[in-house]
Amino acid sequence: MSGNAIIVNEVGPRDGLQSQAGHLDLAQRQRFVEALLAAGLRHVEIGSFVSPKAVPQMAGTGDLAQALQAPPGSELSALVPNMKGYELARAAGVDTVAVVVSATETMNQKNINMGLDETMDVARAVIERGTKEGASVQAYLAVAFECPFEGPTDAGRVRELAASLIDAGASQLVVADTIGAANPAEVRSLMDALVASHGAALMSCHFHDTRALGLANVFAAIESGVRRFDASVGGLGGCPFAPGAKGNVATEDVVMLCEQMGFSTGVNIPALLEVVALISDMLGSPQGGRAHYWLSRNAA
Ligand code: COA
Ligand code: ZN
Repeated sequence: MSGNAIIVNEVGPRDGLQSQAGHLDLAQRQRFVEALLAAGLRHVEIGSFVSPKAVPQMAGTGDLAQALQAPPGSELSALVPNMKGYELARAAGVDTVAVVVSATETMNQKNINMGLDETMDVARAVIERGTKEGASVQAYLAVAFECPFEGPTDAGRVRELAASLIDAGASQLVVADTIGAANPAEVRSLMDALVASHGAALMSCHFHDTRALGLANVFAAIESGVRRFDASVGGLGGCPFAPGAKGNVATEDVVMLCEQMGFSTGVNIPALLEVVALISDMLGSPQGGRAHYWLSRNAA
């Protein structure tokens, strides 16, 4: 990764699709991921290995993983909530998985039917086993700023959980503002502390744009030294288990911000806008980030 590079990890095929009323079939999901890769994205979360009863939109992620060809230098990842998900992902040839720990008791219960301690035990076990078996295991810390059930999240607890997941061997620590409640000042303060303790290379941020602060929060984290962000093309998304969560910060907005500030993302904006059109068409509803109008008239 060159000095001024920022990695954009596209999560539309997972975070974006998991909350849609309309379910895409496997051929559509494959076309969606392929179009994202064609736009230059090299980090894509293709889906999750979760109970199809809990999230029917993600059923068949194993078949999708096997159908996809990862271009050289690319990282196709999948979310796994437990050891069963890890095993299913690995059996489908997925080398990069993401475990999710919510920073509050209630959010873990609502999301994966386990308390915080049990979720941490499961996450550490997946990280340790994955690392031994040559996989990369990313650790998400969800509701890192505010929980829809418990209110503001204690930053000290977030730092403790982060340290424990990193000690276990997580390849990335993804700080997630699951419901889009963070503001740039708290992002700066938390990410400064995490970067000081663990270094910027392990850090990544995942913002939702519920209150129109997604890009401001990305900027705050860049100022803290973070160089890796999740985003979802067209601003697709939400979490079916976190009331009030809106879509992720849009990939095209994040790419525009980074490129205009002189960072390189390797992503082609016109091709990305074609993916916005494609996914809008597949879902039957118009998608697009905050800069969509301007970008669609000015991005060459
Ligand atoms: N993938 C597929 N199926 C799974 C699974 C996985 N990772 N983990 C468990 N299951 C299956 C079990 O085999 C069982 O199937 P059965 O009913 O046919 O016997 C069923 O799911 C229930 O298993 P159990 O271990 O009792 O889990 P649970 O009912 O407590 O649910 C989760 C726990 C984690 C499986 C479920 O809450 C889930 O999938 N949540 C996903 C949440 C999510 O994706 N959130 C958004 C991203 S953060
Ligand atoms: Zn999210």
